[in-house]
Amino acid sequence: MEIFEAIFNRRSIRKFKPDPVPEDILYKILDAGRWAPSACNRQLWEFVIVKEHKTKKRIANEACFGQKFLIEAPCIIVVFYDDRKERREEVGPRKHDSIQSAAAAIQNMLLSAYSMGIGSLWVCGIKKMLKLNDILSAPRFLRPIAIVAFGYPKQKPLPPARRPLESFIHFEKFRKLKETYPDSSFPQDWKLSELAVFRSKICWFGGVIGPDSILEKCSMDSKIYNKLMDRYKTLYRSDFRVLDIMPYAGGFLAGILRLSKNPKNIYAFELHEGSIRFIKENLKIFKLPEPNFILNNEDHILISIKNVDIVTCFFRLERVPQPESLIYEMNKSLNIGGRILFASELMGFIDYIKVLFKLNPNIHRSPNWNIGPIKRMTKTKVNKLFKERGFKIISQQTIKENILRKRFIKQILGVEPIVLLTIWEKVREIEEE
Ligand SMILES: Cc1cc2nc3c(=O)[nH]c(=O)nc-3n(C[C@H](O)[C@H](O)[C@H](O)COP(=O)(O)O)c2cc1C
Repeated sequence: MEIFEAIFNRRSIRKFKPDPVPEDILYKILDAGRWAPSACNRQLWEFVIVKEHKTKKRIANEACFGQKFLIEAPCIIVVFYDDRKERREEVGPRKHDSIQSAAAAIQNMLLSAYSMGIGSLWVCGIKKMLKLNDILSAPRFLRPIAIVAFGYPKQKPLPPARRPLESFIHFEKFRKLKETYPDSSFPQDWKLSELAVFRSKICWFGGVIGPDSILEKCSMDSKIYNKLMDRYKTLYRSDFRVLDIMPYAGGFLAGILRLSKNPKNIYAFELHEGSIRFIKENLKIFKLPEPNFILNNEDHILISIKNVDIVTCFFRLERVPQPESLIYEMNKSLNIGGRILFASELMGFIDYIKVLFKLNPNIHRSPNWNIGPIKRMTKTKVNKLFKERGFKIISQQTIKENILRKRFIKQILGVEPIVLLTIWEKVREIEEE
Protein backbone atom coordinates (compact mmCIF):
# COMPACT_ATOMS: atom_id res chain seq x y z
CA MET A 1 0.00 0.00 0.00
CA GLU A 2 1.20 3.46 -0.80
CA ILE A 3 2.38 5.25 2.35
CA PHE A 4 0.16 8.30 1.82
CA GLU A 5 -2.91 6.15 1.42
CA ALA A 6 -2.29 4.72 4.86
CA ILE A 7 -1.47 8.11 6.39
CA PHE A 8 -4.57 9.83 5.05
CA ASN A 9 -7.09 7.00 5.34
CA ARG A 10 -6.21 5.37 8.65
CA ARG A 11 -8.91 6.18 11.19
CA SER A 12 -9.35 5.54 14.88
CA ILE A 13 -11.63 2.50 15.12
CA ARG A 14 -13.90 2.16 18.12
CA LYS A 15 -15.99 -0.82 16.99
CA PHE A 16 -14.32 -4.12 16.23
CA LYS A 17 -15.44 -7.46 14.86
CA PRO A 18 -14.81 -10.37 17.27
CA ASP A 19 -12.52 -12.17 14.77
CA PRO A 20 -8.99 -12.53 16.11
CA VAL A 21 -6.06 -10.79 14.48
CA PRO A 22 -4.12 -13.61 12.75
CA GLU A 23 -0.77 -14.34 14.41
CA ASP A 24 1.32 -13.61 11.30
CA ILE A 25 -0.36 -10.20 10.92
CA LEU A 26 0.10 -9.43 14.61
CA TYR A 27 3.82 -10.22 14.34
CA LYS A 28 4.15 -8.00 11.30
CA ILE A 29 2.53 -5.18 13.25
CA LEU A 30 4.91 -5.71 16.16
CA ASP A 31 7.84 -5.83 13.77
CA ALA A 32 6.78 -2.51 12.26
CA GLY A 33 6.88 -1.09 15.80
CA ARG A 34 10.34 -2.55 16.30
CA TRP A 35 11.65 -0.73 13.25
CA ALA A 36 10.60 2.71 14.46
CA PRO A 37 13.36 5.21 15.09
CA SER A 38 14.36 5.54 18.74
CA ALA A 39 16.67 7.84 20.69
CA CYS A 40 20.25 6.49 20.37
CA ASN A 41 18.56 3.37 19.04
CA ARG A 42 17.94 2.42 22.66
CA GLN A 43 14.49 0.96 21.94
CA LEU A 44 13.46 1.41 25.54
CA TRP A 45 9.96 0.10 25.07
CA GLU A 46 8.04 -2.98 26.12
CA PHE A 47 4.87 -4.27 24.48
CA VAL A 48 2.40 -6.43 26.40
CA ILE A 49 -0.05 -8.22 24.11
CA VAL A 50 -3.35 -8.98 25.77
CA LYS A 51 -6.08 -11.13 24.27
CA GLU A 52 -7.74 -12.66 27.33
CA HIS A 53 -11.18 -11.23 27.88
CA LYS A 54 -10.77 -11.23 31.65
CA THR A 55 -7.59 -9.14 31.52
CA LYS A 56 -8.94 -6.70 28.92
CA LYS A 57 -11.99 -6.20 31.11
CA ARG A 58 -9.85 -5.48 34.14
CA ILE A 59 -7.69 -3.03 32.20
CA ALA A 60 -10.72 -1.18 30.82
CA ASN A 61 -12.68 -1.10 34.06
CA GLU A 62 -9.97 -0.72 36.66
CA ALA A 63 -7.46 1.47 34.84
CA CYS A 64 -9.07 3.10 31.81
CA PHE A 65 -12.38 4.81 32.58
CA GLY A 66 -14.27 1.70 31.38
CA GLN A 67 -13.47 2.41 27.70
CA LYS A 68 -15.35 -0.57 26.34
CA PHE A 69 -13.65 -0.80 22.97
CA LEU A 70 -10.65 -2.11 24.88
CA ILE A 71 -12.74 -5.13 25.84
CA GLU A 72 -14.34 -5.52 22.42
CA ALA A 73 -11.06 -5.39 20.52
CA PRO A 74 -9.73 -8.94 20.07
CA CYS A 75 -6.23 -7.81 20.85
CA ILE A 76 -4.74 -4.91 22.76
CA ILE A 77 -1.12 -3.98 23.10
CA VAL A 78 -0.05 -2.07 26.16
CA VAL A 79 3.05 -0.05 25.34
CA PHE A 80 5.42 0.85 28.16
CA TYR A 81 8.53 2.99 28.05
CA ASP A 82 11.53 3.03 30.31
CA ASP A 83 12.81 6.50 31.11
CA ARG A 84 14.97 5.70 34.13
CA LYS A 85 18.12 6.79 32.29
CA GLU A 86 16.61 10.15 31.33
CA ARG A 87 15.35 10.72 34.82
CA ARG A 88 18.82 10.08 36.25
CA GLU A 89 20.62 12.27 33.75
CA GLU A 90 18.11 15.04 33.83
CA VAL A 91 19.56 18.55 33.71
CA GLY A 92 17.11 21.24 32.73
CA PRO A 93 13.84 20.46 30.99
CA ARG A 94 13.27 16.86 30.04
CA LYS A 95 13.30 15.86 26.43
CA HIS A 96 11.26 12.73 26.94
CA ASP A 97 13.37 10.67 24.54
CA SER A 98 11.88 7.32 25.45
CA ILE A 99 8.31 8.42 25.25
CA GLN A 100 8.95 9.89 21.80
CA SER A 101 10.49 6.64 20.65
CA ALA A 102 7.57 4.59 21.97
CA ALA A 103 5.13 6.97 20.25
CA ALA A 104 6.97 6.47 16.96
CA ALA A 105 6.64 2.70 17.43
CA ILE A 106 2.90 3.04 18.03
CA GLN A 107 2.42 5.10 14.89
CA ASN A 108 4.33 2.49 12.86
CA MET A 109 2.03 -0.19 14.27
CA LEU A 110 -1.11 1.82 13.48
CA LEU A 111 -0.12 2.41 9.86
CA SER A 112 1.09 -1.11 9.21
CA ALA A 113 -2.08 -2.53 10.77
CA TYR A 114 -4.16 -0.35 8.47
CA SER A 115 -2.21 -1.51 5.44
CA MET A 116 -3.20 -5.09 6.31
CA GLY A 117 -6.89 -4.32 6.87
CA ILE A 118 -6.66 -4.17 10.67
CA GLY A 119 -8.26 -1.29 12.53
CA SER A 120 -6.65 0.28 15.55
CA LEU A 121 -7.20 2.77 18.32
CA TRP A 122 -4.52 4.62 20.25
CA VAL A 123 -5.82 5.04 23.79
CA CYS A 124 -4.15 7.35 26.27
CA GLY A 125 -7.14 7.59 28.56
CA ILE A 126 -5.38 5.71 31.32
CA LYS A 127 -6.70 6.80 34.67
CA LYS A 128 -4.60 4.62 36.93
CA MET A 129 -1.15 4.01 35.50
CA LEU A 130 0.23 1.90 38.31
CA LYS A 131 -2.92 -0.19 38.39
CA LEU A 132 -2.19 -1.05 34.78
CA ASN A 133 1.34 -2.07 35.72
CA ASP A 134 -0.04 -4.23 38.52
CA ILE A 135 -2.68 -5.94 36.36
CA LEU A 136 0.03 -6.89 33.88
CA SER A 137 2.72 -7.59 36.50
CA ALA A 138 4.93 -4.96 34.87
CA PRO A 139 7.65 -3.47 37.08
CA ARG A 140 6.61 -0.12 38.48
CA PHE A 141 9.52 1.79 36.94
CA LEU A 142 8.00 1.19 33.51
CA ARG A 143 5.48 3.78 32.46
CA PRO A 144 2.56 2.99 30.23
CA ILE A 145 2.40 5.40 27.31
CA ALA A 146 -0.72 3.99 25.71
CA ILE A 147 -2.91 1.02 25.04
CA VAL A 148 -3.40 0.23 21.39
CA ALA A 149 -6.46 -1.76 20.39
CA PHE A 150 -6.38 -3.87 17.22
CA GLY A 151 -9.01 -5.85 15.34
CA TYR A 152 -10.99 -6.03 12.14
CA PRO A 153 -13.00 -2.82 11.94
CA LYS A 154 -16.78 -2.92 12.27
CA GLN A 155 -17.13 0.73 11.24
CA LYS A 156 -15.76 3.16 8.69
CA PRO A 157 -15.56 6.47 10.56
CA LEU A 158 -15.47 9.75 8.74
CA PRO A 159 -12.21 11.66 9.08
CA PRO A 160 -12.30 14.35 11.75
CA ALA A 161 -11.09 17.70 10.40
CA ARG A 162 -7.49 18.76 10.66
CA ARG A 163 -6.16 22.27 11.24
CA PRO A 164 -5.20 24.03 8.03
CA LEU A 165 -1.44 23.91 7.40
CA GLU A 166 -0.96 27.65 7.50
CA SER A 167 -2.39 27.82 10.99
CA PHE A 168 0.60 26.02 12.49
CA ILE A 169 3.53 26.16 10.10
CA HIS A 170 6.24 28.76 10.51
CA PHE A 171 9.05 29.43 8.09
CA GLU A 172 12.52 30.25 9.37
CA LYS A 173 11.22 31.66 12.63
CA PHE A 174 8.13 31.55 14.73
CA ARG A 175 5.60 33.97 13.37
CA LYS A 176 3.72 35.72 16.08
CA LEU A 177 0.06 34.88 15.89
CA LYS A 178 -1.97 37.96 15.21
CA GLU A 179 -5.10 37.06 17.01
CA THR A 180 -5.81 37.99 20.54
CA TYR A 181 -9.27 37.69 21.95
CA PRO A 182 -11.14 39.65 24.59
CA ASP A 183 -10.72 38.33 28.08
CA SER A 184 -14.44 37.93 28.50
CA SER A 185 -17.06 35.29 27.97
CA PHE A 186 -19.75 37.86 27.22
CA PRO A 187 -20.43 38.52 23.54
CA GLN A 188 -21.00 42.22 24.14
CA ASP A 189 -17.31 42.55 25.08
CA TRP A 190 -16.29 41.17 21.70
CA LYS A 191 -16.10 42.94 18.38
CA LEU A 192 -17.85 41.04 15.63
CA SER A 193 -14.55 40.83 13.75
CA GLU A 194 -12.90 39.20 16.79
CA LEU A 195 -15.71 36.70 17.10
CA ALA A 196 -15.45 35.95 13.37
CA VAL A 197 -11.73 35.15 13.59
CA PHE A 198 -12.13 33.18 16.82
CA ARG A 199 -14.85 30.95 15.35
CA SER A 200 -12.93 30.39 12.16
CA LYS A 201 -9.91 29.18 14.12
CA ILE A 202 -11.45 27.21 16.89
CA CYS A 203 -13.57 24.97 14.70
CA TRP A 204 -10.43 23.12 13.60
CA PHE A 205 -9.46 22.03 17.09
CA GLY A 206 -10.77 18.51 17.68
CA GLY A 207 -12.59 18.48 20.98
CA VAL A 208 -16.24 17.82 20.60
CA ILE A 209 -16.30 19.08 17.05
CA GLY A 210 -16.16 16.49 14.35
CA PRO A 211 -18.43 15.01 11.75
CA ASP A 212 -20.24 12.83 14.26
CA SER A 213 -20.62 15.59 16.79
CA ILE A 214 -20.83 18.53 14.66
CA LEU A 215 -22.37 21.43 16.44
CA GLU A 216 -20.46 22.72 19.41
CA LYS A 217 -22.22 20.33 21.68
CA CYS A 218 -25.01 18.74 19.79
CA SER A 219 -24.27 15.45 18.11
CA MET A 220 -26.14 14.63 14.93
CA ASP A 221 -28.11 11.84 16.51
CA SER A 222 -29.02 13.83 19.59
CA LYS A 223 -32.56 14.52 20.67
CA ILE A 224 -32.30 18.23 19.96
CA TYR A 225 -30.82 17.71 16.50
CA ASN A 226 -33.60 15.33 15.54
CA LYS A 227 -36.24 17.58 16.98
CA LEU A 228 -34.99 20.58 15.04
CA MET A 229 -34.73 18.62 11.82
CA ASP A 230 -38.24 17.19 12.31
CA ARG A 231 -39.59 20.71 12.76
CA TYR A 232 -37.67 21.86 9.74
CA LYS A 233 -39.25 19.08 7.65
CA THR A 234 -42.73 20.31 8.55
CA LEU A 235 -41.84 23.82 7.30
CA TYR A 236 -39.80 22.95 4.23
CA ARG A 237 -41.07 22.79 0.65
CA SER A 238 -38.77 21.84 -2.19
CA ASP A 239 -39.08 25.22 -3.97
CA PHE A 240 -38.23 27.20 -0.79
CA ARG A 241 -35.22 29.43 -0.42
CA VAL A 242 -33.57 28.66 2.90
CA LEU A 243 -30.96 30.61 4.84
CA ASP A 244 -28.93 29.00 7.64
CA ILE A 245 -27.35 31.48 10.04
CA MET A 246 -23.72 30.85 10.96
CA PRO A 247 -23.55 27.07 10.39
CA TYR A 248 -20.15 26.92 12.16
CA ALA A 249 -19.37 23.23 11.57
CA GLY A 250 -22.24 22.61 9.20
CA GLY A 251 -24.20 19.94 11.07
CA PHE A 252 -27.64 21.43 10.64
CA LEU A 253 -26.70 22.71 7.23
CA ALA A 254 -25.90 19.11 6.29
CA GLY A 255 -29.40 18.10 7.40
CA ILE A 256 -30.92 20.95 5.40
CA LEU A 257 -28.92 20.04 2.29
CA ARG A 258 -29.89 16.40 2.57
CA LEU A 259 -33.55 17.33 2.30
CA SER A 260 -33.07 19.89 -0.40
CA LYS A 261 -33.85 19.10 -4.01
CA ASN A 262 -31.91 22.12 -5.16
CA PRO A 263 -28.82 23.27 -3.22
CA LYS A 264 -28.88 26.52 -5.22
CA ASN A 265 -31.83 27.52 -3.05
CA ILE A 266 -29.89 26.99 0.17
CA TYR A 267 -27.83 29.85 1.59
CA ALA A 268 -25.38 29.79 4.46
CA PHE A 269 -24.36 33.00 6.17
CA GLU A 270 -21.00 33.04 7.92
CA LEU A 271 -18.75 35.65 9.48
CA HIS A 272 -15.37 34.51 8.18
CA GLU A 273 -13.99 32.76 5.13
CA GLY A 274 -12.10 30.34 7.41
CA SER A 275 -15.42 29.14 8.79
CA ILE A 276 -16.73 28.67 5.27
CA ARG A 277 -13.68 26.60 4.38
CA PHE A 278 -14.26 24.40 7.43
CA ILE A 279 -17.92 23.88 6.54
CA LYS A 280 -16.99 23.05 2.93
CA GLU A 281 -14.56 20.39 4.15
CA ASN A 282 -17.20 18.87 6.39
CA LEU A 283 -19.79 18.86 3.60
CA LYS A 284 -17.28 17.13 1.35
CA ILE A 285 -16.92 14.42 4.00
CA PHE A 286 -20.70 13.98 3.98
CA LYS A 287 -20.64 13.95 0.16
CA LEU A 288 -23.13 16.80 0.13
CA PRO A 289 -23.33 19.62 -2.40
CA GLU A 290 -22.28 23.11 -1.42
CA PRO A 291 -24.91 25.74 -0.70
CA ASN A 292 -24.43 29.39 -1.63
CA PHE A 293 -22.21 30.96 0.98
CA ILE A 294 -22.77 34.53 2.07
CA LEU A 295 -19.82 36.09 3.81
CA ASN A 296 -20.28 38.98 6.18
CA ASN A 297 -17.91 41.75 5.19
CA GLU A 298 -18.71 44.29 7.83
CA ASP A 299 -17.90 44.91 11.45
CA HIS A 300 -21.62 44.58 12.00
CA ILE A 301 -23.98 41.89 10.79
CA LEU A 302 -25.26 42.51 7.29
CA ILE A 303 -27.10 39.80 5.40
CA SER A 304 -27.43 40.70 1.74
CA ILE A 305 -29.85 38.04 0.56
CA LYS A 306 -33.60 38.72 0.19
CA ASN A 307 -36.81 36.75 -0.46
CA VAL A 308 -36.02 33.85 1.76
CA ASP A 309 -38.81 31.50 2.89
CA ILE A 310 -37.13 29.88 5.90
CA VAL A 311 -34.32 31.08 8.10
CA THR A 312 -32.74 28.63 10.50
CA CYS A 313 -30.90 30.10 13.45
CA PHE A 314 -29.67 27.49 15.93
CA PHE A 315 -27.78 28.55 19.04
CA ARG A 316 -26.35 31.70 17.52
CA LEU A 317 -28.31 34.62 18.95
CA GLU A 318 -26.77 34.09 22.38
CA ARG A 319 -23.27 34.24 20.91
CA VAL A 320 -23.22 37.39 18.82
CA PRO A 321 -22.37 40.85 20.18
CA GLN A 322 -25.46 42.43 18.59
CA PRO A 323 -28.41 40.04 18.84
CA GLU A 324 -30.83 42.83 17.92
CA SER A 325 -29.17 43.43 14.59
CA LEU A 326 -29.09 39.71 13.81
CA ILE A 327 -32.87 39.57 14.23
CA TYR A 328 -33.22 42.76 12.19
CA GLU A 329 -31.17 41.23 9.38
CA MET A 330 -33.17 38.01 9.49
CA ASN A 331 -36.33 40.07 9.13
CA LYS A 332 -34.87 41.87 6.10
CA SER A 333 -33.97 38.66 4.36
CA LEU A 334 -37.38 36.99 4.79
CA ASN A 335 -40.55 37.29 2.77
CA ILE A 336 -43.65 38.35 4.67
CA GLY A 337 -45.09 35.10 6.02
CA GLY A 338 -41.60 33.57 5.99
CA ARG A 339 -40.55 31.55 9.02
CA ILE A 340 -37.59 31.40 11.32
CA LEU A 341 -36.83 28.09 12.95
CA PHE A 342 -35.03 29.25 16.03
CA ALA A 343 -33.20 27.52 18.87
CA SER A 344 -31.44 29.16 21.75
CA GLU A 345 -30.00 28.21 25.09
CA LEU A 346 -31.89 29.84 27.89
CA MET A 347 -30.47 31.31 31.02
CA GLY A 348 -30.09 28.78 33.82
CA PHE A 349 -29.64 29.17 37.55
CA ILE A 350 -25.85 29.63 37.37
CA ASP A 351 -26.26 32.34 34.75
CA TYR A 352 -28.45 34.29 37.14
CA ILE A 353 -25.81 33.95 39.82
CA LYS A 354 -23.13 35.12 37.40
CA VAL A 355 -25.16 38.15 36.43
CA LEU A 356 -26.00 38.88 40.05
CA PHE A 357 -22.37 38.83 41.15
CA LYS A 358 -21.05 40.22 37.88
CA LEU A 359 -18.94 37.10 37.40
CA ASN A 360 -17.31 37.00 34.05
CA PRO A 361 -15.02 34.00 33.77
CA ASN A 362 -12.03 34.25 31.53
CA ILE A 363 -12.98 32.14 28.56
CA HIS A 364 -9.48 30.92 27.89
CA ARG A 365 -9.29 29.38 31.30
CA SER A 366 -12.83 28.18 31.43
CA PRO A 367 -13.47 24.54 30.57
CA ASN A 368 -15.65 25.56 27.66
CA TRP A 369 -12.93 27.60 26.02
CA ASN A 370 -13.66 26.20 22.62
CA ILE A 371 -17.19 27.49 22.37
CA GLY A 372 -16.32 31.16 22.72
CA PRO A 373 -18.47 33.86 24.24
CA ILE A 374 -22.03 33.17 25.20
CA LYS A 375 -24.76 35.04 26.99
CA ARG A 376 -27.93 33.12 27.47
CA MET A 377 -31.12 35.12 27.62
CA THR A 378 -34.43 34.57 29.29
CA LYS A 379 -37.43 33.45 27.28
CA THR A 380 -39.07 36.82 27.96
CA LYS A 381 -36.08 38.68 26.57
CA VAL A 382 -35.88 36.53 23.43
CA ASN A 383 -39.59 36.92 22.78
CA LYS A 384 -39.42 40.68 23.30
CA LEU A 385 -36.56 41.03 20.82
CA PHE A 386 -38.36 39.07 18.12
CA LYS A 387 -41.73 40.72 18.65
CA GLU A 388 -40.18 44.19 18.46
CA ARG A 389 -38.64 43.20 15.17
CA GLY A 390 -41.78 42.21 13.32
CA PHE A 391 -42.29 38.57 14.25
CA LYS A 392 -45.06 36.55 15.85
CA ILE A 393 -44.84 33.16 17.49
CA ILE A 394 -46.23 30.20 15.61
CA SER A 395 -45.10 27.65 18.14
CA GLN A 396 -42.77 27.61 21.09
CA GLN A 397 -41.50 25.03 23.51
CA THR A 398 -38.68 24.61 25.98
CA ILE A 399 -36.72 21.40 26.00
CA LYS A 400 -34.31 19.88 28.42
CA GLU A 401 -31.83 18.00 26.34
CA ASN A 402 -30.32 14.91 27.92
CA ILE A 403 -27.16 14.88 25.87
CA LEU A 404 -26.54 18.55 26.41
CA ARG A 405 -27.18 18.07 30.06
CA LYS A 406 -24.99 15.03 30.42
CA ARG A 407 -22.06 16.50 28.59
CA PHE A 408 -22.14 20.00 29.84
CA ILE A 409 -23.72 20.01 33.23
CA LYS A 410 -20.38 19.06 34.67
CA GLN A 411 -18.36 21.35 32.48
CA ILE A 412 -20.29 24.53 32.84
CA LEU A 413 -20.50 24.69 36.59
CA GLY A 414 -23.52 22.53 36.93
CA VAL A 415 -25.82 24.56 34.71
CA GLU A 416 -28.83 22.72 33.45
CA PRO A 417 -29.18 24.09 29.95
CA ILE A 418 -32.66 24.67 28.71
CA VAL A 419 -33.29 24.99 25.03
CA LEU A 420 -35.93 27.30 23.63
CA LEU A 421 -37.34 26.17 20.31
CA THR A 422 -39.54 28.62 18.45
CA ILE A 423 -41.06 29.00 15.02
CA TRP A 424 -41.40 32.69 14.28
CA GLU A 425 -43.41 34.16 11.43
CA LYS A 426 -42.51 37.47 9.87
CA VAL A 427 -45.60 39.66 10.05
CA ARG A 428 -44.19 43.03 9.06
CA GLU A 429 -41.19 44.78 7.56
CA ILE A 430 -39.29 46.88 10.01
CA GLU A 431 -37.92 50.36 9.54
CA GLU A 432 -34.35 50.84 8.41
CA GLU A 433 -32.20 51.34 11.54
C1 LIG B 1 -1.91 10.32 22.16
C2 LIG B 1 -3.30 9.92 21.75
C3 LIG B 1 -4.23 9.57 22.70
C4 LIG B 1 -5.51 9.17 22.35
N1 LIG B 1 -6.37 8.73 23.32
C5 LIG B 1 -7.60 8.30 22.97
C6 LIG B 1 -8.48 7.76 23.97
O1 LIG B 1 -8.14 7.66 25.14
N2 LIG B 1 -9.72 7.36 23.59
C7 LIG B 1 -10.13 7.44 22.28
O2 LIG B 1 -11.27 7.06 21.99
N3 LIG B 1 -9.31 7.93 21.31
C8 LIG B 1 -8.05 8.34 21.62
N4 LIG B 1 -7.20 8.81 20.64
C9 LIG B 1 -7.63 8.87 19.24
C10 LIG B 1 -7.94 10.30 18.82
O3 LIG B 1 -9.19 10.71 19.34
C11 LIG B 1 -7.95 10.35 17.28
O4 LIG B 1 -6.68 10.03 16.81
C12 LIG B 1 -8.31 11.74 16.76
O5 LIG B 1 -9.63 12.09 17.10
C13 LIG B 1 -8.18 11.81 15.23
O6 LIG B 1 -8.97 10.84 14.60
P1 LIG B 1 -8.33 9.78 13.58
O7 LIG B 1 -7.33 8.98 14.38
O8 LIG B 1 -9.47 8.93 13.10
O9 LIG B 1 -7.69 10.54 12.48
C14 LIG B 1 -5.89 9.18 20.99
C15 LIG B 1 -4.95 9.55 20.02
C16 LIG B 1 -3.66 9.89 20.39
C17 LIG B 1 -2.62 10.21 19.33
